[in-house]
Amino acid sequence: MKRVAALLVLDRTRPPPPIASLPMGRAAVALLRDGIEVILADQASNGRVSGFVATPTAWLPIQDAVVCGVYDRFPMPRFPQRHAQLVQQLHGIPLGNPVSLRALSRDKLASQRHLEARGVVMPTVVDMTGDVQAMLRDWGVAFAKPQFGAVGVGVERVVPGDDIAPTRPGALGVHEPTLLQCAVRPPEGWAGIATRTVVQRDAQGVWIAGPPVARRSRIDAVVNVARGASADAAEDVLPAQTVRALQLTAIRCAQALADHPDGADLLELGVDAMIDPELNPWVIELNTRPWGRLSALYANDPERWRQAHVDLCARPFRYLAGRRTHIR
Ligand SMILES: Nc1ncnc2c1ncn2[C@@H]1O[C@H](COP(=O)(O)OP(=O)(O)O)[C@@H](O)[C@H]1O
Ligand SMILES: [Mg+2]
Repeated sequence: MKRVAALLVLDRTRPPPPIASLPMGRAAVALLRDGIEVILADQASNGRVSGFVATPTAWLPIQDAVVCGVYDRFPMPRFPQRHAQLVQQLHGIPLGNPVSLRALSRDKLASQRHLEARGVVMPTVVDMTGDVQAMLRDWGVAFAKPQFGAVGVGVERVVPGDDIAPTRPGALGVHEPTLLQCAVRPPEGWAGIATRTVVQRDAQGVWIAGPPVARRSRIDAVVNVARGASADAAEDVLPAQTVRALQLTAIRCAQALADHPDGADLLELGVDAMIDPELNPWVIELNTRPWGRLSALYANDPERWRQAHVDLCARPFRYLAGRRTHIR
């Protein structure tokens, strides 16, 4: 049996949910059958982790367990000190999606330059140091966003003449530098079609793209389910050719991000792309801690998405367990 852990924040005030009630629990049970034991860990000390371990019937408390790899899903931007302490206490246990790759993907300017240098085409992005109005006149429409933003906070559609603040509050409420990205025009009849494709390494390290999710809004150019956009399987609402292009583009992004000194530690990546009027995808940003994965689709139709959802939850742990053969 190989032991791996996910580093995250656990609610210690109540017992863990029944293991079969959530996709991650069902994934952990499936992994057990393949000889991989998952620990959900919120504590680390002396190279060992504590939290809850998966068993076929329940999550059980576990103290000071030795693991061969850790998927870092800790909300680092929200709890930077706690995160740094935890990582330090891991004493060099191999980390999946480590802080270096997360920091790069969080920075929308640095990550876009990294991808562009490796041949990924994205809508032009600039900071606010140049002649912003000239840029805007050239583009017609742009999106102003916080440099380290998430979940659509602080993102605004802007046109020439708009007064654009040089900083704006990001997801954590603190001000961040404003970036300006040329707008991808939406297809006729839509305010925006935003897609999310999760790409993951399989046990052998081969990149696999999951089913892209399309979030669509007829009224809001900042497309977000929390702001009322609908979420559907892209294969249900876009041509097969577009879905294939989304998956190939997302895999290219993962390969480009993994072209980094820590690239072998990239387990999975969420790739956001907008759909243009010709139904071609344009990558706009990356996420190294993709939340939700297929939750929205699963909520719409549990029977159809149950297996895909479990597969997506399990896959990063298979790679983590597979490439690390030594037990410390
Ligand atoms: N270049 C763009 N063209 C069209 N829409 C965009 C563009 N950039 C952002 N948006 C809209 O704003 C939303 C949030 O932007 P995004 O860059 O994904 O930031 P966040 O990290 O906050 O999710 C997108 O889902 C999309 O609807
Ligand atoms: Mg996004």
